[in-house]
Amino acid sequence: MENLVTALIKDDIYYIGTNDRQTSLFEGMWPLPNGVAYNSFLVKGEKNIIIDLVKVNTVSVYIEKIKEILGDDKPDYIIMNHLEPDHSSSLPSILELYPDVEIIVSPKAVDMLKNFYGITENVKVVKDGDHLKIGDREFDFYTTPMVHWPESMVTYEASTKTLFSQDIFGGFGTLDGGLFDDQVQFDKLYLEEAARYFVNIVGKYATQALKALTRLKELDIELICTVHGTIWRKNPKKILDLYISLAKQETVKGCVVIYGSMYGNTERMAEAVAKGLVKGGLDNVKIRDVTKTPLSYLLADTWRYKGVILGSCSYDNSLFPPMNFLLTEISHQRMKKNYWGIFGSYSWSGGALKTLKKYMEDGKYNVLERQPEIKGSATREDLEELIELGKEMAAKILAEE
Ligand code: FEO
Repeated sequence: MENLVTALIKDDIYYIGTNDRQTSLFEGMWPLPNGVAYNSFLVKGEKNIIIDLVKVNTVSVYIEKIKEILGDDKPDYIIMNHLEPDHSSSLPSILELYPDVEIIVSPKAVDMLKNFYGITENVKVVKDGDHLKIGDREFDFYTTPMVHWPESMVTYEASTKTLFSQDIFGGFGTLDGGLFDDQVQFDKLYLEEAARYFVNIVGKYATQALKALTRLKELDIELICTVHGTIWRKNPKKILDLYISLAKQETVKGCVVIYGSMYGNTERMAEAVAKGLVKGGLDNVKIRDVTKTPLSYLLADTWRYKGVILGSCSYDNSLFPPMNFLLTEISHQRMKKNYWGIFGSYSWSGGALKTLKKYMEDGKYNVLERQPEIKGSATREDLEELIELGKEMAAKILAEE
């Protein structure tokens, strides 16, 4: 009988994941305009093995999918590569249905299972490099600490050359009919969202990510089953290369100008800076209002653009609070590949530029020395100075090979 709600991926490996179009913020803070998929897999055989679960809000659809494959049969094992609740919060519901199932996790996941769900029994622990025969299948396990949590691991099934990669190689966006890279226009529909996902979720652990990716590159991989986004069967190298490029923070030739403005005076400064960037020969320039564009997109831009110029009005002797929040998050990302520029508006107290400078010094950022500051509204001379800042940044970016 034809499967209607699930799909055969390869050699009795089935896709049983779900789409979430209801949750508006991933992890409570990252916008999901295109939703998100929680991919899950069922390996059918002498033993039935589920690999990675889904978020609890989609569990009823999920159970329907398990039953389409197993009918009255039951899963024998669940391999949980990652315990974040988007892949584990359906576990209690699954255990109610299948109480004897054995859960396979990494050593660091044991406490998490106990602390999140009170589960201490039927837990089998696998360590980094362990090889396990389950029924007629064999699996290898590799831990990937901090990509995305300390307990994270990936599972490799050698007979089908499949890597179950948990969050790694994931992206935002639901799977709308097409599951595989050869069924969707990835560059048009998913690429930007994969990059934003990487920066938001994995960016601050880029060093660990690169370490994990270098190791995974050694495996003979024909199929990548990530837990979010497209399944890679035609060209897995494409997502591997994209992730390596993102983990190395390979920037694009362009500049983002992010400003915080109360009454438009600092916005006017940002416009002048952008004019300078274009006068300097750059054709990839964006201006963003820190209060309007969500943090998620601002971080993605700062990660990917070679040039980042931040401008802020002063607010109570210091930085405009939304800009302060952005800088706190930027400092967590530990970005080292950008050129930075700063400018500020004094208002009646000053403080913005002083605080921006301190952030730059503390983070040892590569910042341009020209750092314009205005009082009140920019004069003609001020605007010229801001245009010069843009031109200097453009020259620096374009001088790069
Ligand atoms: Fe998709 Fe780190 O959870």
